[in-house]
Amino acid sequence: MTGTGARHPAEAPVVSRLLLACLGNICRSPLAEGILRSKAAAQGLALHLDSVGTGDWHVGQPPDPRTIAIARRHGLDISGLRARQLCATDFDDFDLILCADRSVLAEVRRLAPAHARAPSALLLDWAGVARDGDVPDPYTGGTEEFLAVYRLLERAADGVLARLTRAA
Ligand code: 4NP
Repeated sequence: MTGTGARHPAEAPVVSRLLLACLGNICRSPLAEGILRSKAAAQGLALHLDSVGTGDWHVGQPPDPRTIAIARRHGLDISGLRARQLCATDFDDFDLILCADRSVLAEVRRLAPAHARAPSALLLDWAGVARDGDVPDPYTGGTEEFLAVYRLLERAADGVLARLTRAA
């Protein structure tokens, strides 16, 4: 549809292929992926979502049991996800790479091929939640740390979807 300003609910926004990145791809980014997938579906927004780690330690593994548990407490099943490592083709296959913290962002930019298409940014920054903010790594923490990360990622997901919807 053109000229009316109306948008079909299932129409993809300009940025529609989003990659979430963290270090191990078993805590923060799969949780962000699950939350975003659920909220996007509830809004009828067609997004292609995936998540990766910059490291390879957990490739092929499901999310950390504590990540699965905190997601399940909030009605999300992310147990079917499997960790993978960022690769060169991700920079062509996605429109934007959103990173959990500044060290992940630095590593993503270091690994970017010379003609990388997808820009990268900090998740909390891009979402308008916190300027230059990091999603803290909960890996060495306990239930409280995972809950705090869940709450932060939920705010981030709301901010991302609001921004995507405004840009569409
Ligand atoms: P994530 O958390 O980056 O949020 O998935 C981590 C998971 C594993 C490790 C570090 C952070 N690790 O060192 O194995």
